[in-house]
Amino acid sequence: MSPTPWSPSSWRERPLAQNPTWPDPVHLAQVEQELGTKPPLVFAGEARRLRAQLAEAADGRAFVLQAGDCAESFHEGAADFIRDKLKVILQMAVALTYASGVPVVKVGRIAGQFAKPRSTPLEERDGVSLEAFRGHIVNSEEFTPEARRPNPDRLLAAYHQSVATLNLLRAFTTGGFAALNRVHAWNQQFVAQSPEGKRYEVLADDIDRALNFMRACGVDLDDDHSLSSVEFYTSHEALILPYEQALTRQDSLTGDWYDCSAHLLWIGDRTRDLDGAHVEFARGITNPLGLKVGPSTTPEQLVRLVHALNPDNIPGRLTLISRMGRDRVLEHLPTLVETLLHEGSRVVWSCDPMHGNTFKAVGGQKTRSFDDVLTEVAQFFSVHQALGTWPGGLHVELTGDNVTECVGGGERLEESDLDLNYTSICDPRLNGSQSLDMAFHVSELLQSAASARTRSL
Ligand code: PEP
Ligand code: CO
Repeated sequence: MSPTPWSPSSWRERPLAQNPTWPDPVHLAQVEQELGTKPPLVFAGEARRLRAQLAEAADGRAFVLQAGDCAESFHEGAADFIRDKLKVILQMAVALTYASGVPVVKVGRIAGQFAKPRSTPLEERDGVSLEAFRGHIVNSEEFTPEARRPNPDRLLAAYHQSVATLNLLRAFTTGGFAALNRVHAWNQQFVAQSPEGKRYEVLADDIDRALNFMRACGVDLDDDHSLSSVEFYTSHEALILPYEQALTRQDSLTGDWYDCSAHLLWIGDRTRDLDGAHVEFARGITNPLGLKVGPSTTPEQLVRLVHALNPDNIPGRLTLISRMGRDRVLEHLPTLVETLLHEGSRVVWSCDPMHGNTFKAVGGQKTRSFDDVLTEVAQFFSVHQALGTWPGGLHVELTGDNVTECVGGGERLEESDLDLNYTSICDPRLNGSQSLDMAFHVSELLQSAASARTRSL
């Protein structure tokens, strides 16, 4: 059966999950029209470049690190927040690359990650029921009717904050800040004092020595683009489709459609219905796509989704982000990976060890245990090792700040510490040193996966 024609608005004919009912549709239409006149945030050529790099990960020659906030906040748009998040991601990437020798493709959950799917459309407190908080692109987290009312002006605010964030990211990643001879400078003070921070310093010293050696041999390091800048891509969940449609443009070079709100867009575990609006929208844009794969995904569903989203089996087009929960990986993941292996599907398999491992602490805060997260990653690697497939990436929620949102890790944070500095407006994130700790653990797993790969070639 040939698919029905696609257009940037063909999703409107399908059931739309996880979007609010906007109280003022005329206002929404005005905002959509205004957004449609705004410049693109990213360019088609950049999205193609990311696709080519993800193709390397699909074929076992690269690893994808996708990381950032659960939900970006309109109140955390200041330069320091962005810089510190970038520092941690760069540190993790260096740790992963250094140990494994595998190139790391860096993708932020940033510059557009403002929307959240929710388990219930309404939230009830003390007998009062209000619209759930759906991320700052829709409403605000305070529990008042005013704050929770979906306001289309927030779509414009999200666009403008994304523009500013991306502008800063581009300056940081190309203007010298991300140069390899600055590895020491990415170690923030509170991280540097932790055991992981000290381990990082040793690694950074090694890199310095290697760079000095190259300099002494006559290599002009300042002239080498790959040492003085970093390629960094943006991504978010394509959830609020009026926003995504308004930023979807036809590439003048190829005639293809790109959603120019980010380089990579993903479909969440709650919106991956084959006949739903989100899959319909995503199938027609040419950007690299992510698809969250939770424990309720059946092999048949996955095969159909992969065919719908990547009918030409283009490597790098589709990244499957497994998010099972530590106790369910071994039960569900092997069959899914094996099924696609038999299909010959050239996808990247990435691991989100966060979303299947959330629980409520005794104090009522949402949290995750560092050990559970790590266990899920280790299981993910072991499944791929057993099947001879490549564990292509890691997808984590983190922040550069010294927050206390996840328990465990090198600093042994406990549930009673969670209130010390819990600032997430949605899910709990790894803090700077927990993120680095995670990167060191994963780099060991990646190192053995890379050696196994080399042996099998
Ligand atoms: C997320 O990535 O923030 C998220 C909501 O994930 P999932 O769709 O996997 O639940
Ligand atoms: Co989340």
